[in-house]
Amino acid sequence: MALSLSSNVFNLHPCKSYRAPILTTHLNNGTLQVHYLTSPSNPARPFSRKLLKRRPITASIATEDNNQQVQEVSTASFRTKNPREINVLVVGSTGYIGKFVAKELVDRGFNVIAVAREKSGIRGQKSKDQTLEELQGANVCFSSVTELETLEKSLDELGVPIDVVVSCLASRSGGVKDSWRIDYEATKNSLLAGKKKGAKHFVLLSAICVQKPLLEFQRAKLKFEEELMQEAESDDNGGFSYSIVRPTAFFKSLAGQVELVKQGKPYVMFGDGKLCACKPISEQDLASFMADCVLDEDKMNRVLPIGGPGKALTPLEQGEMLHKLVGKEPKFLKVPIGIMDFAISVLDFLVKIFPGMEDAAEFGKIGRYYAAESMLVLDAESGEYSAEKTPSYGKDTLEEFFERVLKEGMAGQELGEQSIF
Ligand SMILES: NC(=O)c1ccc[n+]([C@@H]2O[C@H](COP(=O)([O-])OP(=O)(O)OC[C@H]3O[C@@H](n4cnc5c(N)ncnc54)[C@H](OP(=O)(O)O)[C@@H]3O)[C@@H](O)[C@H]2O)c1
Repeated sequence: MALSLSSNVFNLHPCKSYRAPILTTHLNNGTLQVHYLTSPSNPARPFSRKLLKRRPITASIATEDNNQQVQEVSTASFRTKNPREINVLVVGSTGYIGKFVAKELVDRGFNVIAVAREKSGIRGQKSKDQTLEELQGANVCFSSVTELETLEKSLDELGVPIDVVVSCLASRSGGVKDSWRIDYEATKNSLLAGKKKGAKHFVLLSAICVQKPLLEFQRAKLKFEEELMQEAESDDNGGFSYSIVRPTAFFKSLAGQVELVKQGKPYVMFGDGKLCACKPISEQDLASFMADCVLDEDKMNRVLPIGGPGKALTPLEQGEMLHKLVGKEPKFLKVPIGIMDFAISVLDFLVKIFPGMEDAAEFGKIGRYYAAESMLVLDAESGEYSAEKTPSYGKDTLEEFFERVLKEGMAGQELGEQSIF
């Protein structure tokens, strides 16, 4: 059941698990009033219109600067609060990583407000009901992150302060304009809207590859990263902080050849298969690391490159692993990287005549980048990628993942709209 709050842009949905009371505060003639949106005496009780009539339960904080006080009372030192009293806004909650992040935060007891589109997922294939099912335990806010006013209005209608914003937004295509619209503008909208509701911390899912930005989505992400850091630096009270998470490769990006190898086809790789390496990380492990960033003070105001457990793996090693698991002799098709360079130069030439081919050229560059650049920390001193300097986190290994996909198939590991990442 969904309860609409005055417009159909924003809906609150009761969750089946334990729900902590959500508080809202506002000033009335210099007095701070606190209201429950959920019933404290019956936490599992769903939101209802009656409860939303807002019974004031506390009063009396005199103030000189009312606005400032509202912010301070609603959000100050959220890290000392019980997770049940911390409101976390998750944008990009319907993505490959975002849905695991939302679930992890719910499991850790936070009040999760998950922003979603009414048609979500790859090519908008998921209905509202499927989204609600997927984000069980969170309050789902159907809104638009690409329109600041709409997002702000949705959060206003919710009537609760926000403590932390977690962004897992990303362009689903990696196209030039869409990258700027989502990885920069929409992410910035979520920062502005969240801050307006009192957010004191922002956790950003970025990517390790922004260290060597050659692609538009990397430039868009970097620009937002820089502005986020400036926001924290220029915060006069020093109360606003960030955690920028830069993961290495996701499992889904390495699973594209599992089925082919199973069918006896060769594993395709560029050069000698050692041009690049990564420390793959699972959705669950990354979600857990992101959730740690909400409260861990040692992750505050830091850029955090992160990989999965074990050693770094080259495409050659991934191919060998896969062949071993299917019980076949390793068979490789080595493609010279120069072929990609040639294709990109042709596309770049065509873009000058047909600007509409801009995205096709960009996708070629994305493919080239992933074929040759490691998803590891780029050592500033040596200028080389360093597996040793890339921290490991979690327990899920690529080998276990390959085994699972060989048995159960690729469900949940689908690539984005252009099948690139
Ligand atoms: N693939 C890799 O190996 C890898 C490695 C390191 C870092 N990363 C980075 O990790 C991040 C997340 O990746 P992911 O695979 O989880 O992304 P994803 O599955 O493509 O999810 C993207 C999220 O952004 C939302 N979004 C996209 N366009 C939107 C729009 N126009 N309006 C509203 N919401 C929109 C999507 O909502 P809908 O469901 O409504 O579309 C979805 O929730 C990316 O920044 C990526 O660069 C990826």
